[in-house]
Amino acid sequence: MESVRTQVVIIGAGPAGLLLGHLLHREGIDNIVLERRSNEYVLQRVRAGVIEWGIANFLEEAGVGQRMRAEGLVHHGIEMRFDGVSHRIALSDLYDGRAITVYGQQEVVKDLINVRRSYDAPLHFDSEVTGIEGLNSAHPTVTVTAPEGEMTISADFVVGCDGSHGVSVESVPRGYMRRFERVYPFSWLGILAEAPPATEELIYTRHSRGFALYSMRSPTLSRLYLGVRPDETLDAWPDERIWEELTVRMATDHTAEIGQGPIIERGITPMRSIVVAPMRYGRLLLAGDAAHIVPPTGAKGMNLAVADVRLLAPALVARIRGGDESLLNSYSDDSLRRVWRAEEFSTYMTQMLHPHPTDDFENGVQMARLRQVVESEPAARALARNYVNLSSV
Ligand code: APR
Ligand code: PHB
Repeated sequence: MESVRTQVVIIGAGPAGLLLGHLLHREGIDNIVLERRSNEYVLQRVRAGVIEWGIANFLEEAGVGQRMRAEGLVHHGIEMRFDGVSHRIALSDLYDGRAITVYGQQEVVKDLINVRRSYDAPLHFDSEVTGIEGLNSAHPTVTVTAPEGEMTISADFVVGCDGSHGVSVESVPRGYMRRFERVYPFSWLGILAEAPPATEELIYTRHSRGFALYSMRSPTLSRLYLGVRPDETLDAWPDERIWEELTVRMATDHTAEIGQGPIIERGITPMRSIVVAPMRYGRLLLAGDAAHIVPPTGAKGMNLAVADVRLLAPALVARIRGGDESLLNSYSDDSLRRVWRAEEFSTYMTQMLHPHPTDDFENGVQMARLRQVVESEPAARALARNYVNLSSV
């Protein structure tokens, strides 16, 4: 079995793992990124698409924001639609001119892979971490199953950027980390369609039949979502039914029909909130979805992943270079403060926009919250600040 040594082993080539690898490389820290899926799979996996103001700036400072700035869509507002009426939340007017950038997560991943290839740092696809040992020793090791065979890597630190249900959390002794979880009684059916977006801004819709979201990826690609029952399967949703339901839920008295076109990607994602704490065990650190999941209604998943590694990279550098462990010691608490704020905002957005099938008291409260957002400037301002820049405060 081949045996390799590096300073930091990073499990997972999503936004968290790839960006961490890049930030460490820039500081001269050797690292290896391991990804169980193939390069092609990771590049075409359609995920989130909203980048916060401070996170976009950070990606640019990190030297990976060039294409995002050129091709990303800058949005200065979003629409909240309910009772058949649209209300614009003027994000930039409410928040010092700041805006969000709509740019697909797989584009961020592509940019990060390209930059890593440009300096030829180790990035292994089709390479699954199957075991992690010695997290309380000076040199933990991971076991990797790769096409060339099995390999062990010994490092100073292991970082679990392996998404939800990853191997890293599983390798921590039971009972050490606490898992907080909430499951919602619905899922999102998401599609990517070759249709020019009919509107310029995202539309979050609450309709008595359920939630709908209008988003986009480019001037020719629309990204749309429907709230569906958690037990729904794609078989029950032929194209016509998807478009019909979107049309009904998003209808107003005076808006254009939503643009339709060939559906090139579709999937159903369950909605849940998870927080794992603390985000460290000995020489293992967690970042991104490995430590926390948010329901997508607040558009925070990718932003939180970037915010984690923005804190973690300098903490690892200080520890590895100078032996100063103070930043590493506070990493979990510092990250979790932000994570819980994002959980709160994501829960608020989720609950406000997904009608309850039977509980009409809950539905009354949801409508009151929506009216507050569109009628009270302080409420709109709070939403704007959280939507545009929560992960950088
Ligand atoms: N060995 C190697 N790789 C693994 C292993 C393993 N044992 N287990 C999981 N992985 C890989 C997955 O295949 C995946 O590519 O880890 C990667 C985790 O990446 P992401 O799921 O993209 O997670 P993260 O980088 O934290 O980014 C969070 O992703 O799900 C969205 O909404 C979420 O936008 C957020 C973002
Ligand atoms: C997306 O464009 O995929 C998207 C936008 C906003 C969300 C979630 C997803 O809240």
